[in-house]
Amino acid sequence: MTISTLTKYGACFLFSGLLSCVACRSGLQRPSLQEVLLAQKRWHECDLNSLKAGLTLYTTHCGQCHELYKPLAYSEDSWLDCLPEMAKRARITPEEQLLIRRFLLTRRTYTLEKKK
Ligand code: HEC
Repeated sequence: MTISTLTKYGACFLFSGLLSCVACRSGLQRPSLQEVLLAQKRWHECDLNSLKAGLTLYTTHCGQCHELYKPLAYSEDSWLDCLPEMAKRARITPEEQLLIRRFLLTRRTYTLEKKK
């Protein structure tokens, strides 16, 4: 990660208080500790901040042209298929795409497991 990416994420965290309003209007709750544990089973280095950053990036970049799709609205494969194309449209970096992907896939699994 470059310094500029780090600064960008720093700024994201500063604004995340503000943006949590956007997040709650979208019906997307802030990531929980259970989700961090779930995410770490797949991606060791994942932590609460990276999931939060993923949520923030998702709500700020992915709802401009269409609604913010629910993580459960698509299968894992469909998310993986469409994200690279959508990342281009949203003009985000590969690192940002990665954070969004991990947030979405974790939230998806978490929601599914809670429903059981
Ligand atoms: C510049 C506009 C734009 C932005 C920004 C954008 N999208 Fe899209 N998205 C579209 C359009 C147009 C479609 C429908 C046509 C298509 O699938 O190419 C679409 C379709 C989708 C679909 C449905 C795909 C399907 O197969 O039905 C998903 C899921 C999606 N976008 C997710 C995202 C995510 C995640 C982001 C943020 C990284 C994002 N979009 C940002 C324009 C955008």
